Amino acid sequence: MLAPSKAIADRFGRKIEYLRVSVTDRCDLRCTYCIPESFKGFEEPENWLSHDELVRLVGVFGRLGVTRIRLTGGEPLTRRGLPDLAARLKQLPGIDDLSLSTNATQLAKCADELKRSGIDRLNVSLDSLRSDRLREITRKDCLDSIIGGLMAAKRAGFNPIKINMVAMQGINDDEIDDMVAFCMEHGFILRLIETMPMGVTGRNAGFLDLQPIKQRLRERFDLVDGVLPGGGPARYLKSVDGRFSVGFITPISQHFCDTCNRVRLSVEGSLYLCLGQDDKFEFRPLLRSGASDSDLVDAVYAAINRKPERHDFSSQPHKMVRIMAKTGG
Ligand code: 5AD
Ligand code: SF4
Repeated sequence: MLAPSKAIADRFGRKIEYLRVSVTDRCDLRCTYCIPESFKGFEEPENWLSHDELVRLVGVFGRLGVTRIRLTGGEPLTRRGLPDLAARLKQLPGIDDLSLSTNATQLAKCADELKRSGIDRLNVSLDSLRSDRLREITRKDCLDSIIGGLMAAKRAGFNPIKINMVAMQGINDDEIDDMVAFCMEHGFILRLIETMPMGVTGRNAGFLDLQPIKQRLRERFDLVDGVLPGGGPARYLKSVDGRFSVGFITPISQHFCDTCNRVRLSVEGSLYLCLGQDDKFEFRPLLRSGASDSDLVDAVYAAINRKPERHDFSSQPHKMVRIMAKTGG
């Protein structure tokens, strides 16, 4: 039997067991739905939390019942020394699951080292299998390096490997079946994601309602409802033999705020309590002014107590000016 969670609950009774840690807001790609092509608002390096600061702060979350950490960005592999940081986080008491979200452009050369560092699971962003189209979406020639990264990750023994595809009307929605076939062939779990109106980039990304797509894939590939361990927001369909799963992350067409179990730490030490709200709690000033561990514990309680009930993406689609790379995708 699982031990009862000792995680902190927010005002709405949601237990916060999952922390997403953005180790950089920079990225070697410029996906059209994410970072504006000539974006200038990146954080100055002196404001990045250091490895030591990150380990200390994540350690406090671990003591307060957070059991799962995801390293994210921007592109986390652009941050120097990431495998060392991963290894230190994995050893913290309470942290029993460490995962990484990456665009995989630089994964081929470090997949083995990342595996050894204790990262259990990998999510890779990939929106198209066509080289020219992916170049238009990411503004860089990157398909070969991503496929190389994925194959290296498979050889290194990551399991599961999930492919995150942001599904966009008129941009890559005709490729969803090809992506299903690709993931079936390689044993990857596919997740289709609805675009969120984060910043002008997210708003103009060609929102696609995934509910009809889910129905179509169910019939076309003979899929049935499935559940994947981990308790994330994706709703899954799986093949009858259980070897293939596809998840649907539908923040707009069917939001999942009432089961939200996560908060997000940005590279400069702001704890964002919701992707779709501006409210945040600043940890960097505390970390850099001699706060004790018990001050940090109090601050985590105060922050989680401010977690909003839900996003307003549908009722106020122009509200969020912050792009995803700033929060941690
Ligand atoms: N809407 C949905 N997902 C987004 N991402 C970035 N911007 C958006 C957006 N506007 C996510 C994608 C990508 C990850 C890095 O961030 O899932 O794979
Ligand atoms: Fe980089 Fe991910 Fe944003 Fe694309 S979506 S620009 S890979 S952070």
